Amino acid sequence: MKRVVFQVLRHIAARMCAAGGLRYSVAAGRQLVGIAQKQGLAGAVRFVCYRLVEMHYEFQLGINTAGRVELSELGIADDEGGKYLPSDYYGLRKVLKSLHVRRERDVFLDMGSGKGRTVVMAATYPFRKVIGVDFSAGLNAIAQDNVCRARPHLLCTDIEFVTANAAAYRIPSEVTVIYFYNPFVGNTLARVFSNIRESVIESPRELTIVFKNPRHLLGEVGATPWLTKCREYPTLYGYPYVVYNVRCPLVLD
Ligand SMILES: C[S@@+](CC[C@H](N)C(=O)[O-])C[C@H]1O[C@@H](n2cnc3c(N)ncnc32)[C@H](O)[C@@H]1O
Repeated sequence: MKRVVFQVLRHIAARMCAAGGLRYSVAAGRQLVGIAQKQGLAGAVRFVCYRLVEMHYEFQLGINTAGRVELSELGIADDEGGKYLPSDYYGLRKVLKSLHVRRERDVFLDMGSGKGRTVVMAATYPFRKVIGVDFSAGLNAIAQDNVCRARPHLLCTDIEFVTANAAAYRIPSEVTVIYFYNPFVGNTLARVFSNIRESVIESPRELTIVFKNPRHLLGEVGATPWLTKCREYPTLYGYPYVVYNVRCPLVLD
């Protein structure tokens, strides 16, 4: 029985190879076998579903945001910055849907936007504007290209990429949703949270913060009295999404 299951998994892995490029897919196939060994059949099935959903959206939107890129490959030396790795489509869709976007009113900001997957997905909702901030000009150029390819699927047309260190980026007063997927840790994260706090003090408004994998938020920014955890979404594979609301008027710490 176990043998048959592994043969089926190998077959699926081979199909994924054919659809997604050899290097990328050989790694995925290896990962699948590793997951089956560690997490059993249920874990392997979840992983296959995750990969299929990933391929489906990349194909449907006509974009290429897959793969990981180390900061060293981008010529960036930053101890606190995380590598490029995209959010997963399955969880991203669930969390974006849950936001009940107010047409032409809400503005979405992705802190550390990489190749633009989250920006593109956010722009399939009727946000007034979607902004991506990343310190890599190279990743921003790829993201811009992905936005052009996905244009026919987008409801939001005002999309801006800013090349800057997030710590030095002044949060515009129009921003109502801020998204983070493991972009940075330490002082950079603390600085960005201090900027968010300042922005809400200057322009009091409802603000939603979405964190995929809030481990560092909790570890380094700590218990922040002005942030309230609202809900959490597990995903098929990888870190869950946690949604926070900023209490307004701000409960000052
Ligand atoms: C894990 S990726 C997330 C990509 C994207 N947000 C998504 O959801 O698909 C983290 C990104 O943060 C960027 N980054 C890391 N440190 C940064 C900093 N200090 N300022 C701006 N961008 C940063 C990296 O270049 C990388 O593209």
